[in-house]
Amino acid sequence: MQKRILITGRIPDEVMNLLPREYYVEVNSEDRPFDRQRLLESIPDKDGFISMITDSVDEELLDRAVRLKMIAHFGVGYNNIDVRAATARGILVSNTPGVLTGATADLAFALILAVARKVVECDRITREGRFRYWAPMLFLGSDVSWKTLGIIGLGKIGKAVVARAKGFDMRILYHNRQRIDPEEERKLAAEYVDMKTLLSRSDFISLHVPLTEETKYLIGRNELSLMKPTACLINTSRGPVVDERALVEALREKKIRGAGLDVYEHEPVLTPGLTELDNVVLLPHVGSGTIETRVKMASMAIENLVAGLRGKVPPNLVNPEALSRRRPAK
Ligand code: DGY
Repeated sequence: MQKRILITGRIPDEVMNLLPREYYVEVNSEDRPFDRQRLLESIPDKDGFISMITDSVDEELLDRAVRLKMIAHFGVGYNNIDVRAATARGILVSNTPGVLTGATADLAFALILAVARKVVECDRITREGRFRYWAPMLFLGSDVSWKTLGIIGLGKIGKAVVARAKGFDMRILYHNRQRIDPEEERKLAAEYVDMKTLLSRSDFISLHVPLTEETKYLIGRNELSLMKPTACLINTSRGPVVDERALVEALREKKIRGAGLDVYEHEPVLTPGLTELDNVVLLPHVGSGTIETRVKMASMAIENLVAGLRGKVPPNLVNPEALSRRRPAK
C-alpha cells in the first residue's frame, strides 16, 4: 500500500528528492505553523509524520493517528511530543541530534558577544544618527575574554560553546545532572560546581538543558538573585527553562547586567516589558537557523522516517521501548 506522509514545515527543496518517489506527501508550503485543525484532519491517513517544534503532538492528535508508525521530529528538542503516549501506541519517534550542535553553539556565542558589547543597541544608536562623536566613556560594554562562563547542561551543545569560549581565554564552570568523566573535564578545562556556585561566580551563564518537568523554571527569581549584578544570562535552549517574568524584573531593576534570548516561555508571545528593555537581545528561535544546518536536519529527519516506514530501526530513535509494539509496516 502507498505510504502517506505529512511534513508540517517547509523544508529545503533539495532534500525533498530524498523521499521515495512512491510516497504520497502532504507538505506545509508556508513558513508558518501548520494549523491545528488541519493537523487533526490530516493525521488519520498518514503512515509517517515529519513534525516541527510548533506542532503539539499530544494524546488528542495521537488518538486520531490510527495508521501512524513513525514521527521523525525536525529538531533535537522534542518536548512538544508526548513520547510516552506515542510509545504506548507503538509509534516510533526520532530527532535530529548532532547536526545542529555547531550552529546552536555559534548562536549562543553570538548572543554572549552581542549582549556584552551592546551590538544591537549600538547599531540602533548609529542608525538613528546618534553617533555624533567618539568619546572614551561612550557606548561601553564589558569584556568577554578572560571572564567566567557558566554552562548549565554540558551536553553536545554545551561542550561546543566551551570550545568556542577557549578562543576567548574564558574560565569554564559547569553544572549538570551528572558530572562528566574527569578525563573529559580535564580536556575541556571545565570545573564542575553546584548550581549556587555557578550562579554566583559566572559572568555569563549559558543554558543548554532540554525542557523537562525538572528543568521548567530552572532559572527563577531566586536563581537570578544569586547572579552577580554584572552577569548576563543566555538562553538558546527552551523558553520555559527561565521564568520570564522574573527575568524581566531582574533586567528592569538591573539586578543582572543583561540577557540574550533565542527562545521564550510562551513562544512566540513575549512577556510584557521584555521589548522595552535595552539590556536584552531578542532573537526569533534561530539557534539551528543556517541553511547548511537545516539541510542536514531535513536529510536526517527523512532518513529516520524512511527507515521507520521500512520496518528498520531509525538511526536516531528516542523511544526504543516502542520497537516491541511497533505497528506493522504494511
Ligand atoms: C531544536 O532542534 O531543538 C531547535 O530548537 C528547533 O526546535
